[in-house]
Formats: sequence, structure tokens, C-alpha cells
Amino acid sequence: MLRSDHWYAAEGKDGYIHRAWMRRGLPPDAFDGRPQIAIANTGSDLTPCNSHFDQIARSVERGVYEAGGIPLNLPVVSLGETLVRPTAMLWRNLAAMAMEEMFRANPIDGLVLLGGCDKTIPALLMAAASVDLPAVVVPGGPMLNGSFRGRPISCGTDVWKLSEEVRAGGMDAAEFRRSESSMIRSRGHCNTMGTASTMAVVAEALGMTLPGVAGTPAPDSRLLEASHATGRLAVDLVRTGRRPSDVITKASFHNAIVALAAVGGSTNAVVHLLALAGRLGIDLSLEDFDRIGMDVPLLANLEPSGKYLMEDLFRAGGPLAVLQQVRDLLDPTAITVTGEPLVDYLADNEIYDTDVIAERDQPVQERAGIAVLRGNLAPAGAIIKPAAASPQLLQHRGRAVVFDSIEDVRARLDDPDLDVDADSVLVLRGCGPKGYPGMPEVANLPIPKKLLEQGVRDMVRVCDGRMSGTAYGTVVLHVAPEAAAGGPLALVRTGDIISLDVRARTITLEVTDDELASRTPPAAFADGLASPARGWERLYVDHVQQADTGVDLDFLVGRTGPVVGRESH
Ligand code: FES
Ligand code: MG
Repeated sequence: MLRSDHWYAAEGKDGYIHRAWMRRGLPPDAFDGRPQIAIANTGSDLTPCNSHFDQIARSVERGVYEAGGIPLNLPVVSLGETLVRPTAMLWRNLAAMAMEEMFRANPIDGLVLLGGCDKTIPALLMAAASVDLPAVVVPGGPMLNGSFRGRPISCGTDVWKLSEEVRAGGMDAAEFRRSESSMIRSRGHCNTMGTASTMAVVAEALGMTLPGVAGTPAPDSRLLEASHATGRLAVDLVRTGRRPSDVITKASFHNAIVALAAVGGSTNAVVHLLALAGRLGIDLSLEDFDRIGMDVPLLANLEPSGKYLMEDLFRAGGPLAVLQQVRDLLDPTAITVTGEPLVDYLADNEIYDTDVIAERDQPVQERAGIAVLRGNLAPAGAIIKPAAASPQLLQHRGRAVVFDSIEDVRARLDDPDLDVDADSVLVLRGCGPKGYPGMPEVANLPIPKKLLEQGVRDMVRVCDGRMSGTAYGTVVLHVAPEAAAGGPLALVRTGDIISLDVRARTITLEVTDDELASRTPPAAFADGLASPARGWERLYVDHVQQADTGVDLDFLVGRTGPVVGRESH
């Protein structure tokens, strides 16, 4: 018996109500034991990266019909990274909660999850894990490469680079503006290995997509072909009863972490994967990222750490060609939505351009993973992505210059009198999940203008916030506990010495325990912290967990499954 039969096979007035309102031209057998497949669509005109999803949904629909199912378009909470304030991450858990509840509340047997822009695939996966209905992801795909005045231009990374050029006087503001439409020249999500590209690859490595689809550019007709096939597959998933909890295991997280490292993926994947593991009750820790990922070679030569863009990756063989190179590091037991192991899909994936995808014996970098740091400044951990950092700063001692909020940074960073030099360590606090609800992408704070003018392009930065997947630099981020939750980051004073030793995995405030115990956070810091009176933000601040466990709400951890609720009438 299908889950939807609880609605449509009912006798009397209840069954009548459920069927009659849904008919609208469909034949009676549409509700006669056919899998009802919801196409959870995060597209919207305010989420430009996902604005093409209706076309993808039409291809999915055809596949669902063809396989004997009934497709149902279900718009769900849509989160666009570029517009939503204060940060789309504030709404990831809201989106996941709303999606989960609507999936459970409706007569749905299976799910096709359409995600693209950064938070949409994580929210969809978290919801699908907690409702545990058969589900498969279609990643909406990256936009095409941009070019401006004869040179390649990437979305995301080049926004940071060009804006720093303007600040340093190397480009004028009008020219900067002219580059806008050259940068974003097609539908799709950011074309660097930012968070959206990363989460598409991660979804595939977890086994949650049709193998081979991740990285297909949004305008490419092969994405529609794969969407059609995914519609068919969704019907099959319902028939075989394969659920996210069957597909996503510790072994699939292992593979996701290997993939994350090999493609040089975004640090944001750490909080998303930890949150997803929490939904499934899988024991995944921050240390697993370091342990599994650290010795994985970086093979994809993609911005922000490298040279190329997602269209190039696809042309060169795609994510599966990358995974083929590290096949021996993958867990062969992890299956995909097809029921077959991920490793079974790797055999014929050649590399067509070794400048874009390096072969295993000549990697872009020897070790690509995310390093987990601990110390008296981050007792519950912090992370750094060494591949996006400056090698000479990975072991560094410097004087802290402390900022209590992002507004404080804006007010003082470019002040010519700011006492800062190239060796200083810039500290930004109050930007963790509670302090600045949502944990914004501000950790890669800009280099002070006077140092930029001296040619300084990177400095050690320490923050309890996140950074954009398209950003780069020697940035220690996700410091836990955050300053607003009583973390020692709140006690740092300008002039204290901070030492970073990535090889030893430490981040240390060179201040004695006694001295730290005698300190209290400055009043100015406390003033800047959030204390929302009502609404989602209130709920969020009261219940959000720290970065080391994925920034989920405490009461959303775990899963309820596809329980059928009581009748409505
Ligand atoms: Fe949507 Fe980058 S802004 S993926
Ligand atoms: Mg982002």
C-alpha cells in the first residue's frame, strides 16, 4: 500500500474530498495506487540562481508520467544567496523545517528535490532525511563561464578580486559596473567551486543524485535529459522503497568528504554535512573532515583556489572523472539512489583536459582537505581551508586587532590611524549562529586599505562566522563556541598575541588561563549582539546549535519519518 492511499483510497466523504479536488482533468486511475511524486521546487524570481527550475520540473514531470507516476509541482521555501538578508543561512533551518512538514502533511510517496543556490540543496536534503520519503536531487547546474574584455571572469571570486582592485585604485568604478552582465551571462548558480557547486557534487557523492548529473551547466540540454531520467527513477524509488536513510550512511559521508577535498569545495559544506548527519542520527564529527579529507589530493583546478570554472570541469570530464582518480579512497559499500554503489559508476570517466582535472600522480595540491584547529581560542574547534590560504601564513604569530561587529569593521578598518600591519591577526567576533543570527559569510574580512596599498593581499583572520565558498585567504572560521555563546573569542583584546599552527592543528591565544579568567567581554561587544523579540529569529537564537555540530536547531535534530497524520475533516 502506498502512503498516498491513506488519502485517495479512503471510503466515504474523506476519500471523495481528497480525490475530487485533485482530479481537475486527470483520469480516475491517477489515484488508483500510482506513486505520487512531489517535485520540490526551490525556484523563484528572487532566487536568480534557481529561476530556471520550472523548465527542469517539466522534464521531471514527463519522466514521472512515463514511469506510471503522478508528478506534483510543489513550490517550497526558496533562498537566494545574493538578496536575502541578513544571510540566507538564517533561513536554511526554516526552509528545511517547512519542507519537512509539507512533505509529511501531503499525500506524497516520493520526492524529486530541485536545488541550486547555496542553501537550497542542504535544506532539501535535511528535510528529506527527516521525513525519510524516497527522494532524489536534481542539481540545477552552474551558469556558463563569463568573460570581460577578453579575460575570463568568474562569479563570486572575481567580485571580491575586482572590488579589491577598485579599493586599491587599479580599476575605476564605472568599469567595475560594466563587468556585471559579463559575469552573470546565463541561468544557473555560481560557476566557481563555491557552495552551490560544492553541494551539488556533495549530493552526488552522497548517492542522492542520478550519477553523473552534478556539474552539468544549467543551460545544457543534458541537464533536461537527466531530469527526465530522474523523474523515472523517482517512481522506481517508490516501488523499491529506497529511502534517504538507506542511501545516506557513514560510508556515503566518507565519500562526500573525499569528493569535497578532491574538488576543493566550500567550507560551508562542513556545517551542511554535520547538520544532515544529525538529521539521520549518523555520528559525524568535525575531526572526520580532517581525518578523511586531509590526505586527499586536490585535483580540480577551479576557482577560488585554482584557475577554471564549472563549465570547464564539465568539459574536462565532470565530478565523476575527479572521483575516478581517487577511487581507492572511496568507500565501495556506499550506494546511490539507483541501488548500485557509487564506485560502480566511475569506470569510464576519462579526463579530457588535465589542466582542469589533474591526474592523481600530478595533483594541483598534495593535500586538499579542511583542517580542524583546536586550542584555548576554539575549545570546540575551528576550521581552515589550507588550499585557499597563503602557505607562508599557515604558521604565524601576530598581534590581534579586534573588531566587535561587522559594522565596527566598516567604521575602522580603512582608518589610516588603525594600528595594524601585515603581521597582525584580524579578529572579528559576534558573527556566530547566535550573535549574528544565521552566521553570515563575513569571516574573510577585507585587508585594511593602507596595507592593500602596500601590496598586502592576505592576512591571518579569525572569526566565529562563515565565509563564502567563493572567497579565499588565510581565514580561521567557524570558531566554536562563538563569542556570543560564551566562547573565549569574546575575551581577546587588541594587542594580544595569537598563534596559528595549521600543521599542529592549533589556534592559541597567548594569554594565561588566570588572565583570561579575570577578563569579561567588553560592553561594546555585548551591545552589538542580537536579542530578537519575536518570530523565527527568536526561535533561532533560543535553539540554534554551534558550528561544530552543524548549526541546526536542537529540536530539529533527528527524524520523524513519513508518519501519516490524522484526518482533517
Ligand atoms: Fe546563488 Fe552563488 S549566489 S549560487
Ligand atoms: Mg555563498
